[in-house]
Amino acid sequence: MEKREKFSSRLGFILISAGCAVGLGNVWRFPYITGKYGGAAFVLIYLVFLVILGLPIMVMEFSVGRSSQKSAARSFHALEPAGTKWHFLSYIAIAGNYLLMMFYTTVGGWMLSYVVKMIKGEFTGLDPDAVGAVFNNMLTRPGSMAFWMILTVVISFLVCSLGLQKGVERITKFMMGSLFVILIILCIRSVTLPGAADGAAFYLIPDFSKIKEYGWFDVIFAAMGQAFFTLSLGIGAMAIFGSYIAKDHTLTGESIRICLLDTLVALLAGLIIFPACFAFKVNPGEGPGLVFVTLPNIFNQMAGGRIFGTLFFVFMSFAALSTIIAVFENIISFSIDLFSWKRGKAVAVNLVLIIVLSLPCVFGFNIWSSIAPLGAGSTIQDLEDFIVSNNLLPLGSLGYLLFCTSRYGWGWKNFIAEADAGKGAKFPQWSRIYVSFILPAIVLFIFIMGYIQKFVK
Ligand code: ALA
Repeated sequence: MEKREKFSSRLGFILISAGCAVGLGNVWRFPYITGKYGGAAFVLIYLVFLVILGLPIMVMEFSVGRSSQKSAARSFHALEPAGTKWHFLSYIAIAGNYLLMMFYTTVGGWMLSYVVKMIKGEFTGLDPDAVGAVFNNMLTRPGSMAFWMILTVVISFLVCSLGLQKGVERITKFMMGSLFVILIILCIRSVTLPGAADGAAFYLIPDFSKIKEYGWFDVIFAAMGQAFFTLSLGIGAMAIFGSYIAKDHTLTGESIRICLLDTLVALLAGLIIFPACFAFKVNPGEGPGLVFVTLPNIFNQMAGGRIFGTLFFVFMSFAALSTIIAVFENIISFSIDLFSWKRGKAVAVNLVLIIVLSLPCVFGFNIWSSIAPLGAGSTIQDLEDFIVSNNLLPLGSLGYLLFCTSRYGWGWKNFIAEADAGKGAKFPQWSRIYVSFILPAIVLFIFIMGYIQKFVK
């Protein structure tokens, strides 16, 4: 058997895992959900769920990956007790990674196209309606949207084709480093705008009366969903990076670092967006258009806006690409683990497959816009997002939780031995009852309530 590739450094592991986590969830979804649910109070609830829900599941994923030395397509087969069917969870993982990419690549393409639009100054001098029209026009043009989606897919697979260390690790390290530098420049610009203080207050000082307006349940539910999404949990996307490292450091310690980086990016992304919204008196509760419609308007009014706008969309593109590359690494590894293909063949086949699978999302905004799978006004993208975010992420997470804690699965002892191997923070033994019973019940509750909220209300 061929020896499994490894990362060249610990920093590589942490930054690639953070790159997988840091994505549109942080820089696109988090700000608009926070805007919608009233700011700081929502942020606080989200942070609590990150710790009590996201962190333990991340440790479990890494443990399964590191112990099995396989991607999620084979890790359960390697660790399950003989004769059991835990490996059915690999189908959730495989489906989850492909489905996530089926809509993610389209939004990644939007980001790249906005970098070019900003560089070319396409928004300069436009009034807010005209800026909105640029976004809506883009959605009506399948050819151009497909072009940007395909470019995103090709760039990302190209990186993966260079190999784990020379491609995925080297490029992602560069992108994550640049992402942090740009993030800090943009934050300084935003918080020093005249009138930015109100935005910072909206974002940083909790006002729980806002939560009453929406209803506690909706807000808590959104915060939980965001915690899963931002950490890419439940579909083994993280697990694979555990299979590329040695046992020098405990997985709880590493997971804390990765969660902190992810949270830092989300919080700072908000600190770019909200002060700027308040400084230019635009509504931060705009929804998904926040980044594509509201922000170009802000850059239009700002001195040096074209440069800051370009930097902003480069930052967004790096966040998206780091996740896409990480998930493509999973997808390539599935083919390698399942069919013993070489990396080159796995890249070539999946490149074509992902482009084809991403087309329905592109067409859903134009030639197939009559298809409204989740009710009037919904798109194919909404359906794909729903399948992943409301189904595969919670169900897969439930699978990891039960697999790692049940004596009929891999079991607590094996899990703890793997998670705690190496130097660093250990997984707390006292949490056993919590992660074995209470956390699975919470996850199941989220899953069921997601359906009730979507279809019964
Ligand atoms: N974790 C990825 C993101 O936040 C999916 O975008």
